[in-house]
Amino acid sequence: MKLYLKYYRLLPSTEGGCVTGAQHSVRALDVPLESYIVLVLYRYLELNPTDVVVHFVQCKATTNVLRIVLPTSSVEASAFFTDAAPLPHDPALFCQLPSIAIERINTIVSGLCGVCRRLTKQHVAATKSSAGLLGFKGNTLVAPADASLWTKFCELDMVRCVEEVLKLGVKDNLLPAEIGQLESHLVQPLKSHNIYKLINLVNNVRISSDEEHRKLASAEQQFDFHANHKFAEGYEKTLADLMLYICFELVERRLTNAVLRAKVPNLSGWMERVAKHDEGRLHRVCNEVLPTAQNCSLLTALSGCDALVLEIPQEFSLYKSDTKKLNLKGDQVLTTNQAEVLDILRKVDRIPTDIGSAVNDWATNRFEWDTVPVEARPEGGKLPPARILRKRHQLESLVNEVMRLATDGAIIVDFCSGTGHLGILLAHLLPRCTVYLLENKEESQQRAMERVERLALRNVVFFQCNLDYFTARFDIGVSLHACGVATDIVLEKCFAHRAHFVSCPCCYGKLYNIEHVTYPRSRLFRESELALKEYFCVAHCADQTHDLASDRTNVAKAHQGFYCMDVIDRDRALRAEELGYKVLRKRLKDESCTPKNRLLVGIYGEGDMR
Ligand SMILES: C[S@@+](CC[C@H](N)C(=O)[O-])C[C@H]1O[C@@H](n2cnc3c(N)ncnc32)[C@H](O)[C@@H]1O
Repeated sequence: MKLYLKYYRLLPSTEGGCVTGAQHSVRALDVPLESYIVLVLYRYLELNPTDVVVHFVQCKATTNVLRIVLPTSSVEASAFFTDAAPLPHDPALFCQLPSIAIERINTIVSGLCGVCRRLTKQHVAATKSSAGLLGFKGNTLVAPADASLWTKFCELDMVRCVEEVLKLGVKDNLLPAEIGQLESHLVQPLKSHNIYKLINLVNNVRISSDEEHRKLASAEQQFDFHANHKFAEGYEKTLADLMLYICFELVERRLTNAVLRAKVPNLSGWMERVAKHDEGRLHRVCNEVLPTAQNCSLLTALSGCDALVLEIPQEFSLYKSDTKKLNLKGDQVLTTNQAEVLDILRKVDRIPTDIGSAVNDWATNRFEWDTVPVEARPEGGKLPPARILRKRHQLESLVNEVMRLATDGAIIVDFCSGTGHLGILLAHLLPRCTVYLLENKEESQQRAMERVERLALRNVVFFQCNLDYFTARFDIGVSLHACGVATDIVLEKCFAHRAHFVSCPCCYGKLYNIEHVTYPRSRLFRESELALKEYFCVAHCADQTHDLASDRTNVAKAHQGFYCMDVIDRDRALRAEELGYKVLRKRLKDESCTPKNRLLVGIYGEGDMR
């Protein structure tokens, strides 16, 4: 396994980059915070340098620069340094660093939490120790940052928080909000999937319900849900504690232990518990990799920091999922009143464009299911029999389009590939193309890997990461039911590389503005009289496309829903057209194979002007 980390500069020994310590000499190098977190974890888990080879990849320095040291013995033994012209064909560099390449299974993992989880798994496998650090059922930090507040906090927010703390100067008067959020989070009552098991273990009792818990005779037997929130995720120390500790240890160096104790006693108490749990070993590793002397200006205590103001939110939990993604309040809340919906649709009618989608024009498929091995068919993905035919129909429409667009040697990316239905079929049918399967859910991707292994496909590479972390060049982007805004992130990736696209969107009602994707997508829609909340109302109605064959379906609402899907997709198509694409707006065949049955085919350039 190869671990790829960013570095900015390897210091020449003349600049104090090589120091002879008591045991061995050390090399200093400048790295971003994420590389530091991973390196500390790497050392802490005592990973074997021959099992996990470290590659430092040189990048342009941004603001967060930490000067770390590595003993030269370990640099020589295990680390490679790649300069500004890195190995261009290495897929591990096709996504944001840190990343891991597992060559044996053609897999790239990207994203801080994903990488830290893989390293921990490697440690568990190598030491045959219990999987404790990966939490209950190995689920610590498994949910991706765009679906889980907790992963987002550990992957993105805390990094930003440390960067802010390192930059604090005398003129600043506010501490980053994340410090207050963690302080509040740590005093929330413990929530855990295995709570009864835990209560039984801690109190040596046998209960299996809240009621039995209330009936426990003595006060000592009553499990204190507050007191037992000992670690970041509950009662046991997990990887999340290690990652957060590595970050907050830097905050402590800058703000001092005394100030943290006074301002955030719970956070400070948690740090002590984490440090004590391994008799200070993690703390020592942090200091080994990042001695304060090398970073005088950044890490020395900030004078007067006790005067900095910190807001601590009440009852704040980082476990709660973010249900208010639209952030609409008061009169911004979307209407469900049909008369108002009709008013909004009248505004849509006044946009000078054609709304609609064409019935699929493929008379016959470009491939025969009979010649496709079972593992590459939907049944190979363990779908329930009732769904197999419908999945086949979904796949046929997309595969026909891709087979028409693909040329030998093309790189095709199946974004949000799930268990691999689409990407695996494409890889089988187009052996001269390379297919990347990108999916952030480890479990789904594991199933796709097993199928690929059984099929012995050599033209598949797996990317286990968020869409946002994927940066590689490609020729055709495909997505089948990428939820809500994920479809638009996929389309943006295609636009950036002028790649063709074949996309069947899903979950229109879950659209919301994110930093790099805002709605409406096209100039024409943005300049129309449709307000943002009205646009999202149309998107919401687009999710009311229920099965027309069912007696319980409100047929009028369902038809309105199909029309609303076409409205949103027209906006998407217009954006692509503004960027030079020819776009076909089609429907899957047969249309009843899924209520989310619209298909956008984007052709860039002269390739295939139908
Ligand atoms: C509805 S499933 C579709 C799976 C597959 N394409 C199919 O048709 O069977 C959507 C998939 O997208 C993945 N996903 C959603 N957002 C993602 C993101 N930002 N990055 C990577 N994968 C994502 C989910 O984990 C899920 O497996």
